[in-house]
Parts: sequence; C-alpha cells; structure tokens
Amino acid sequence: MNNSEIILQCHSVHQIFKDGDTEIPVLNGIDFQIEHGESVAIMGASGAGKSTLLQLLGGLDNPTSGSVILKGNDFSKQNSKKRGLLRNQYLGFVYQFHHLLPEFSALENVMMPLLIAKESKKSASIKAEQLLTKVGLKDRLTHRPAQLSGGERQRAAIARALVTNPACLLADEPTGNLDESTASEVMELMLELNKQQNNGMIIVTHDKHLASKMNKIYELSGGHLVRQ
Ligand SMILES: Nc1ncnc2c1ncn2[C@@H]1O[C@H](COP(=O)(O)OP(=O)(O)OP(=O)(O)O)[C@@H](O)[C@H]1O
Ligand SMILES: [Mg+2]
Repeated sequence: MNNSEIILQCHSVHQIFKDGDTEIPVLNGIDFQIEHGESVAIMGASGAGKSTLLQLLGGLDNPTSGSVILKGNDFSKQNSKKRGLLRNQYLGFVYQFHHLLPEFSALENVMMPLLIAKESKKSASIKAEQLLTKVGLKDRLTHRPAQLSGGERQRAAIARALVTNPACLLADEPTGNLDESTASEVMELMLELNKQQNNGMIIVTHDKHLASKMNKIYELSGGHLVRQ
C-alpha cells in the first residue's frame, strides 16, 4: 500500500436540511482530504455541522450536492451493500455514545467487525483479545456493556473501531462523556494505535487540549472548514 495516498476526500460538499418550507443550510461547500499518517481535529460550535460532516465522510448519509470519495470509490455511485463493505474495509467509527451491542460481551463486540469481514472466529477472537488487552480491558472480556463503566465502554468501542486496522478512524467526541484524565488516556491510546498503524484519524472534539495533539486543526463555521 502506498502510504502517502489519500484515504478519504470530499469535494464541494453541501448539506441543506429541510424543515417544512424552510431550508437549513448546514454545510456550504466543504473540500477536505486526509492521507495516511495524518490526524485531524474538527472543532466548532454546537450545531455547526460537525456530526453532519462526519456522517457524510463515513458514507452514512448523502450530501445535497458534492462528492465523498473513499479510496477512489465515490459513495454516491455505490449501492448500500457496497457502501457497507467499503466502510467495513476502510473505516472505523467511534461515536459519542458507545453503540456497543448490549447482548454481547466486550470480546464479542470487538470481534464483530472482523466476523463481518469474514475472518475466522478463532483469528477474530485472538485479535479482539489483543486489542482489548491494549486498551486495559484484559480482565473484562466476558463483561457485557452494562457491566462496564462508562470509560471502559468507550475503550471497548475504540477497540472495536480499530480492530480491523482501518485506513481512517472517524470519531465524534469520543471522549465527550469521560472525566478529564480518562479522556486524555483514551485519546493517547487512539493516537498511539493510529500512529503505529500509520492510518488517518479524524476527531470531532470541543477540547482544545485534545485537538492540539492532532497534526491539523479545522474550525467548522458558517458551513465552511477553516484551517486553524
Ligand atoms: N436530519 C436532520 N434534519 C434536519 N436538521 C438536521 C438534521 N441533522 C442535523 N440537523 C441540523 O443541522 C445542524 C448541525 O447539526 P450537527 O449535529 O451536525 O451539529 P454539531 O456541530 O455536531 O453539534 P454538536 O457539537 O452539538 O454535536 C443543527 O442545527 C441540526 O439541528
Ligand atoms: Mg455533534
């Protein structure tokens, strides 16, 4: 793999939501790209459109106009099955709230993306256990999400997002509901894993200190991304 290659890019992305007859323009022409080894923070006021942008970059929603291209594949030209495959192959998601499956253990939750990618159960289990050990959850493998603390859940969610070694991690306020010291631990961990794997990482955060650890900081304001 060519490590200077662009992972994810978007061109002239607009997103306009409709509320009855009123149009709410949220994104007004976003051009952005991320390469291997890059880490990017996206900041901006509440309601600025950060989550909207992350959803579009992850192919979870369609822009009103403009294109989002993942590893040369324009999302708008893929059916939903192919989109799902592309996401599974190249992206890892960490949401503000963990979205772990409640009826499965931490280990099973982390194995899931590998099983979806058709890895054997044995190899999925080995990789999931290794990553959970890295995030400090070696003794919590069989716990279900309800039996984990908030910080432990978030670490399990990060393990799940990174277990496939995704080309790009997309994280929406991944430390938003953690205390300061756990937040900075979780952040260090994501940065370390990401660096080891020379992947890309886009993080939405309100935290200036966390943002300062990224290679680039952008502010989303008035529907535009401005490099800080
Ligand atoms: N599906 C939708 N339909 C209509 N309006 C929406 C929709 N999704 C988001 N919006 C509006 O778009 C704007 C941007 O929302 P978004 O969730 O992207 O903000 P954000 O920057 O992530 O804010 P926060 O920091 O509070 O998470 C908001 O005004 C929101 O109400
Ligand atoms: Mg948001």
